[in-house]
Amino acid sequence: MRTQKLTLTDCPDAARLHQLSFYKGWSEKDFEEFLADPLTQGLKSEEGGKLCGYILWREIGEEAEILTLVVAPDFQRRGLGSHLLDALFQRLGEQGVSTLFIEVAEDNEGAHLFYLKQGFNLISKRPNYYQREENKYVSAWNYIKKL
Ligand SMILES: CC(C)(COP(=O)(O)OP(=O)(O)OC[C@H]1O[C@@H](n2cnc3c(N)ncnc32)[C@H](O)[C@@H]1OP(=O)(O)O)[C@@H](O)C(=O)NCCC(=O)NCCS
Repeated sequence: MRTQKLTLTDCPDAARLHQLSFYKGWSEKDFEEFLADPLTQGLKSEEGGKLCGYILWREIGEEAEILTLVVAPDFQRRGLGSHLLDALFQRLGEQGVSTLFIEVAEDNEGAHLFYLKQGFNLISKRPNYYQREENKYVSAWNYIKKL
C-alpha cells in the first residue's frame, strides 16, 4: 500500500469521511486550516483514486500528536490503519521525534484496542472532555508511544 501526502484537494473527502466516523466530525474548512498550519501534516492512502484512509498529525520539536486517523468503513480491519501509523512512525523517526501522543474518546472501543496493539500506553484521562448528546459527556483517554 502506497501512502501520499494529504493535500488541500483532499479536504472535501477527508471531511466527509471524518463526519461519517465521529460524533462531531470536522468540516472541509477545519481540514484546510489544519493543512495551512506549518506544524501539521497528513498522509493518505487511496484505492482507485478514492480516499480510503488518512492520518493527520502535528509536530512540535521532539514531540508529535496524532490529530486524527480515519479509515473508511469499507476498508477497516484490513491493515490500513496500521499501515498509515507505520508510515508515520518511520517519518517521525527520520525527523528525530521521540514521543507520540493520541487522545481517544472513552466510548471508542475499537480505537483503544487498535492503539494498545500498536504499542501505545495509557497515561491519563480527562473527564467530560467530549460531548455526546445534550448534557452527556465522555472522557478523553491520553496515550503515549515512545519511538
Ligand atoms: C481505529 C481505526 C483507525 C483502525 O483502522 P483499521 O484499518 O481498521 O485497523 P487495522 O486493520 O490496522 O487493525 C489492526 C488491529 O487493531 C485492532 N482493531 C482495529 N479496529 C478494531 C475494532 N474496531 N475492534 C477491535 N479491535 C480493533 C485489531 O487488533 C486489529 O487487528 P486484527 O484485525 O488482526 O484483529 C479505524 O477503525 C477507524 O478509522 N475508525 C473510525 C475513526 C477512529 O475512531 N479513529 C481513531 C481515533 S483518532
